[in-house]
Amino acid sequence: MKKLYIVANWKANKTVSEATEWFQKVISYKSQVISSENKEIIVCPPFTLLPLMRDFIKQHGLQIHLGAQDVSPFGTGAYTGEVAAEQLKDLAHYVIIGHSERRKNFHDDDEVIAKKVAMTNEAGLTPLLCVQGKETPVPQGVQIVAYEPVFAIGTGNPDTPENADTVAKEIKENHNVESVLYGGSVTAENVAGFTHQEHIDGVLVGGASLDTSEFINIVQNA
Ligand code: PGA
Repeated sequence: MKKLYIVANWKANKTVSEATEWFQKVISYKSQVISSENKEIIVCPPFTLLPLMRDFIKQHGLQIHLGAQDVSPFGTGAYTGEVAAEQLKDLAHYVIIGHSERRKNFHDDDEVIAKKVAMTNEAGLTPLLCVQGKETPVPQGVQIVAYEPVFAIGTGNPDTPENADTVAKEIKENHNVESVLYGGSVTAENVAGFTHQEHIDGVLVGGASLDTSEFINIVQNA
């Protein structure tokens, strides 16, 4: 059975109390989460929630890993408003880099993205690089890529599993990466269509990950 990554990208959503509620519901589903042996569940909350969630996961022995949604291209020091990879080390295992929302709204270009990948690797964290198509550059040091076509993000209009599989295959061939995930309007209903494809190794889920039972159903159906 291949290893699947099921990644929740909460974006700029959830307060402390909303995140606590999400986790309390997860605990009632604990056995299902834990029985998903070939599935690596990764939740990427906003920075503000990482310490709370790390403690929650530890306390309840949940089989969930944490990821950040971004990282500074710089190290620690005089960079007001930034969070350096070094600061994430004891809070997360993964870092999403190059999401199309960052490229569009915050002008993250390929050069900045390559720096973020380098800082992430240097800190011993694993980058999850988002690409918008097979032409998007993949910097050195990336082993997990998420193919996320912009038309599919938050629209309820996912790519077809067959096309996503073709893109995943090409990304693997061209960039020698280990795993390619699909992201864009993934739901509990359509997830299996993607994860059952030969070259797709998981999904990156935005909107549908905010609701606990929908997310658990995604994990189970994947
Ligand atoms: P969506 O977002 O699942 O809400 O389409 C996916 C993403 O942006 O990572």
